[in-house]
Amino acid sequence: MQLEFCGLSKQFGEHQALSDVTLTIPEFQALAIIGPSGGGKTTLLRLIAGLEIPEKGHLSINSRRLEVHEEALLAHRRTVGTVFQAYNLFPHLTALENVVLPLVKVHGLSAREALDTAGALFERFQLAGHAQRRPAELSGGQQQRVAIVRAIAIKPRFLLFDEPTSALDPEMTAEVLDFIMELRGEGRDLIIVTHNMGFAREVSDQCLFIADGEVQESGHSSELFRSPHTPSLVNFLAKVLRY
Ligand SMILES: Nc1ncnc2c1ncn2[C@@H]1O[C@H](COP(=O)(O)OP(=O)(O)OP(=O)(O)O)[C@@H](O)[C@H]1O
Ligand SMILES: [Mg+2]
Repeated sequence: MQLEFCGLSKQFGEHQALSDVTLTIPEFQALAIIGPSGGGKTTLLRLIAGLEIPEKGHLSINSRRLEVHEEALLAHRRTVGTVFQAYNLFPHLTALENVVLPLVKVHGLSAREALDTAGALFERFQLAGHAQRRPAELSGGQQQRVAIVRAIAIKPRFLLFDEPTSALDPEMTAEVLDFIMELRGEGRDLIIVTHNMGFAREVSDQCLFIADGEVQESGHSSELFRSPHTPSLVNFLAKVLRY
């Protein structure tokens, strides 16, 4: 896929979360977004998902400009699979129901079609044994995998991940990162905000470094990690790779 930002700005009250981001990201399959806390990563992801509206500027996905009127945004959101840090599963529903419900309520599938779709995905991703459990009966890693299956079930054009493993211990982190690598292997388009630099480097072909509301550096991931140019990225990598 391909992304273009044109003078994109987003403000929260007095705070400029993103200022005048103008950038074309060439064709990629997986884009990693890295940078310090508060830099604007989630804000950019939410703009791409159509969950926030910019004050100024616009963005295009695969050369199609994202219109910001309500109808267009609603339609857009239905085509994007999003996975957040907290799994956001409904606690009173089983894992399977968590996937089935949006398919029926939001995407208009019949109950039968939704069950077939969800059941096939649970089988394929080794979650069938957990289908009838409620989120509280699943580990964090299992819950996050269910959340990812829910995002895939809607047949999204692409998937957005916002720090999908930051609430997980190392073993579960590996389980979820393996899952995301598998999705990449299937040829799905991914945009991933992560603090895990080893993973960012491995999974992505393009990378954005965002700090202070600006894209300070971008490019091919292998190149960007091997020889960062801007002092801010050099400092950031030195800090996060120290331990
Ligand atoms: N809904 C909001 N209301 C007010 N301020 C917000 C809101 N969302 C984000 N901000 C502010 O905008 C700035 C950018 O936030 P953002 O969540 O995009 O950062 P981030 O790079 O994702 O950080 P982190 O790595 O901690 O998740 C922060 O200073 C944050 O406090
Ligand atoms: Mg964030």
